Amino acid sequence: MSTRTAADSCLLVIFGASGDLTQRKLVPALYEQHREGRLPKGFAVLGVSRSDIGTEGFRKKMRESCIEHTAFDEASWKSFEPLLHYHAGDATKAEAFGPLKQTMCELAAAHNTGDNLLMYLSVAPQLYEPIVNNIGAAGLVTEGQRWCSLDRHTGAWQRLIVEKPFGHDLASAAHLNRVLGRVFEEEAIYRIDHYLGKETVQNLVVFRFANAIFEPLWNHQYVDHVQITAAETVGVEGRGAYYEDAGALRDMIQSHLLQIMAVVAMEPPNTLNAEDLRDEQRKVLQAVRPISADQVSRAALRGQYHGQGNGERVPGYLDEPGVAKDSNTETYAALRLEIDNWRWHGVPFYVRTGKRLRRKLTQICVYFKPAPHSLFRGTSPTAMKPNRLKINVQPDEGISLRFEGKVPGNDLKVRSGVMDFDYVQQFHGQIPEAYGHLLLDAMSGDQSLFKDRHELEAAWRIVMPVLDHWKNHPGSDMHAYPPGSWGPNASETLFQGQGHWHNPEGEQTRWRRDG
Ligand code: BG6
Repeated sequence: MSTRTAADSCLLVIFGASGDLTQRKLVPALYEQHREGRLPKGFAVLGVSRSDIGTEGFRKKMRESCIEHTAFDEASWKSFEPLLHYHAGDATKAEAFGPLKQTMCELAAAHNTGDNLLMYLSVAPQLYEPIVNNIGAAGLVTEGQRWCSLDRHTGAWQRLIVEKPFGHDLASAAHLNRVLGRVFEEEAIYRIDHYLGKETVQNLVVFRFANAIFEPLWNHQYVDHVQITAAETVGVEGRGAYYEDAGALRDMIQSHLLQIMAVVAMEPPNTLNAEDLRDEQRKVLQAVRPISADQVSRAALRGQYHGQGNGERVPGYLDEPGVAKDSNTETYAALRLEIDNWRWHGVPFYVRTGKRLRRKLTQICVYFKPAPHSLFRGTSPTAMKPNRLKINVQPDEGISLRFEGKVPGNDLKVRSGVMDFDYVQQFHGQIPEAYGHLLLDAMSGDQSLFKDRHELEAAWRIVMPVLDHWKNHPGSDMHAYPPGSWGPNASETLFQGQGHWHNPEGEQTRWRRDG
């Protein structure tokens, strides 16, 4: 996340180009970067998929998506469209790579991309291994040499972006890392987590380390606990088959939320270089206290949405297409984690996520310890609310600090007030799509917002005892919750009587932690 160096010319090959991600996120993000003039001079996109839609069909679909997802304008589309190409083929078959490589060579020459190749795996995870093996066997990864017949450009790179899910558990993630490592150097592998590309997550690093006043408080002496929430209103959006196999813990916590937690909790890195930043984040994840099998029911909670709630007329999870009628997949998951290091000793980190919740929001709440003693007659220390720093990752991107103040009037009454920082208003900026930023980083060789293999495996290690326990005890502790709620009430029990989940609809009214 250091100041960006210019993106190198390259050919971007997207495997899985007819999929949702390419259409809804990747191409719109590239189009936005093109409008801003940030794409490199020599650049082209080659979408690869089995369906026979042809370049014209591909462009048409992408145009519709850009109209829907971006501030579209015809003139910039006209100059962007010729950069998009399509090749029909089954990349899991070695024989598909002959014609594919031929098309790639032609495009590299036509668009002056040189031998730099950025390949994006946006396919079902079971296809990663055959595709990567085929990439290797086709001689596309040459580490600084030419892979096609161009007779210029030495020092070329070939890089791979891998989408989540990265493995299904620790063993499969470690296996995938080995598979990738046989074809690509670690420096050429970009494991993407689009939450790291979110502007507000990056701002968290600036907030923590560009301001001297927060860092002295950012530890077990002053912080009582931290809550990280990623709530979604959508259901599984036609991805029932994928979701059945994933569930909320894998889909959101193992990846995005543990990553956010690592940024909240890490030590100041020596520099913002990828190596230093990722080292500090990995150390946090490695310091998380393992949840032992007999502690799972106290430290983890799962739920599934059922029925109708708050006037919502939506199918329950078990009625979603692609979902088994007796599914044990959780659509809500919450964990209580502790980080065993000097800074965070005894400070619980609560993370939760769910589909079909009341509002779409991602939020970090840092609760500070309450004042030890009340000077105010009639107001006990426990009735006064503790200071709380709330960081809205999305939407309403911003930061607010809650503090106690005197209510105007003759009586000495204490009440909470908030200081608010609205990101868009104060910086007069639009919040850009995370993928654009990350794609440009990959083109310029900056890995700082991508995960390294150790960090990823550490995140799997944290959730494995819970996944194993839930698998071995199907349905036994699955809590139903109505769509449009904030999840199962039972998830309050994770707090063990000390605190509550923040209710974004109203301020936390019952505070019972006594210091
Ligand atoms: C994806 C998950 O990684 O993140 C989805 O697979 C989820 O299930 C999505 O909906 C949420 O991303 P965002 O950026 O909309 O918060």
